[in-house]
Amino acid sequence: MLKAYYKSPDHAFNLLHGDTFELLPQFNYKFDMIFADPPYFLSSGGISVQSGKVVCVDKGEWDKSMSQDEINAFNIKWLSLCREKLKDNGTIWISGTYHNIFSVANCLTQLGYKILNVITWAKTNPPPNISCRYFTYSTEFIIWARKKEKVAHYYNYDLMKHINGGTQMTDVWRLPAIAPWEKKCTKHPTQKPLGLLARIILASTEAGAWILDPFAGSSTTGIAANLLGRRFLGIEREEEFAAISKARREEIEDAKTYATYRRKIPDIMKTEDTQTECFMCREDIEVRLPFLEDDDI
Ligand SMILES: C[S@@+](CC[C@H](N)C(=O)[O-])C[C@H]1O[C@@H](n2cnc3c(N)ncnc32)[C@H](O)[C@@H]1O
Repeated sequence: MLKAYYKSPDHAFNLLHGDTFELLPQFNYKFDMIFADPPYFLSSGGISVQSGKVVCVDKGEWDKSMSQDEINAFNIKWLSLCREKLKDNGTIWISGTYHNIFSVANCLTQLGYKILNVITWAKTNPPPNISCRYFTYSTEFIIWARKKEKVAHYYNYDLMKHINGGTQMTDVWRLPAIAPWEKKCTKHPTQKPLGLLARIILASTEAGAWILDPFAGSSTTGIAANLLGRRFLGIEREEEFAAISKARREEIEDAKTYATYRRKIPDIMKTEDTQTECFMCREDIEVRLPFLEDDDI
């Protein structure tokens, strides 16, 4: 049995503190979907502008640049551990930049996953490029793949079309970068916006689904999952970020904050009239992860 760093009172949000490479092999459970935002290996002393000031963009020790061979070995290892944790009809989403995303795509194919789409997240408000020697970096990529070549996956086509105003949703998503209201519990250096995760979760899972994030950071995946009536297990190595995750989840225990955050996410607002239920009101659902100890910290 594993001890959770934090479990929400309804057991829909579960966080393990530790190394994903050590923890993943210690339990046997199949998830409906995995979202992973692994290290990009781009922290090598670069600079950018934030609030008018030149700042170093290094994210931390966990993101230090590595050789291409080391990046490939890292990606093969975690993607292979994650494949073991997916249901046969499950899907995985991996976000990245050009620094790691081509390696991720190659590793996915090598391991037998089938790539379904490569989403381009076009940020509507990117920071300027201060060197003036390149185009402004305004995109990130998110690969969507299924576990098996021949086992069908779940895609909520109708809902995506509805959100897109009645026409097919394309693989280019114009969404803003993270907003100030998402940073109330202090900011993770690479925190993803809830709006991006909400779309991913709505597109590829049904209410009640179990979602795994092996590089949880501040658990944006878990917060979006719970705002949408899905369940979450995250793994994070840095205590500082696990503490942010816990604070973020405690924040939405308050029903008013929970409702306010849902209202701030456009895709959730557009789904209200169709399928999405308020998970926190569903006291009938109490499913626990069987490999987690019962006593909360
Ligand atoms: C790109 S960030 C994820 C940010 C997250 N998507 C969010 O919105 O907050 C990657 C995270 O993976 C964590 N990490 C890196 N290597 C890890 C490992 N081997 N095991 C567990 N966590 C790891 C880092 O500490 C970092 O918080």
